[in-house]
Amino acid sequence: MAVVFRRPRLAAELAGRLLHPGVLDEGLRSGLFLSGLRRTGKTTFLLTDLVPELEAQGAVVIYVDLWSDIKVSPATLVYAAVRRMLTDLVTPASTPLARLRRLRGLDLGGLGFRFGFQLEQLGETGGATLAQALTEVVDQARGDVVLIVDEVQQAITTEEGQQLLLALKAARDAINPRP
Ligand SMILES: Nc1ncnc2c1ncn2[C@@H]1O[C@H](COP(=O)(O)OP(=O)(O)O)[C@@H](O)[C@H]1O
Ligand SMILES: [Mg+2]
Repeated sequence: MAVVFRRPRLAAELAGRLLHPGVLDEGLRSGLFLSGLRRTGKTTFLLTDLVPELEAQGAVVIYVDLWSDIKVSPATLVYAAVRRMLTDLVTPASTPLARLRRLRGLDLGGLGFRFGFQLEQLGETGGATLAQALTEVVDQARGDVVLIVDEVQQAITTEEGQQLLLALKAARDAINPRP
């Protein structure tokens, strides 16, 4: 196994800016955009440094790589990643739930989260939207949700991908006015 160069200070700084923005940079809660040449370590940094740091600070983190399967549409990949996290959150023994209990002192009476919609129908016609689903997560976790989309430029190549970006923006706008 090759040695991975860690960037804990950068991870702590970015996590802090996302989760605890100062009064002058509230806008940063809307998101950070990380760009750079291919194979310069962006994905490695996200997975080995930033995601663990965000989780250690109590955030629910959803990571999705739009290049993980190029035969599958970006929207399908994002909805699947969100659904996986929601499924973890309704499962009492899951790792994310255990972390939230420990870090945020959530008392769920031995149960998991309960959502007022069918997980399987998330993103489908008549099912819950990303905005509804993520708002419920924020309310029940009483904390932040961070969605990380790797290779996000892939989403602008199709009409469906652009709809997805609009749905993400709607979710962000629904959530950010909340405490
Ligand atoms: N922090 C690191 N320490 C050691 N090797 C790294 C590090 N970051 C990246 N690499 C190496 O570089 C390759 C490309 O990194 P990757 O994170 O996939 O880049 P990007 O997402 O920017 O295209 C990885 O497969 C890994 O071998
Ligand atoms: Mg990458």
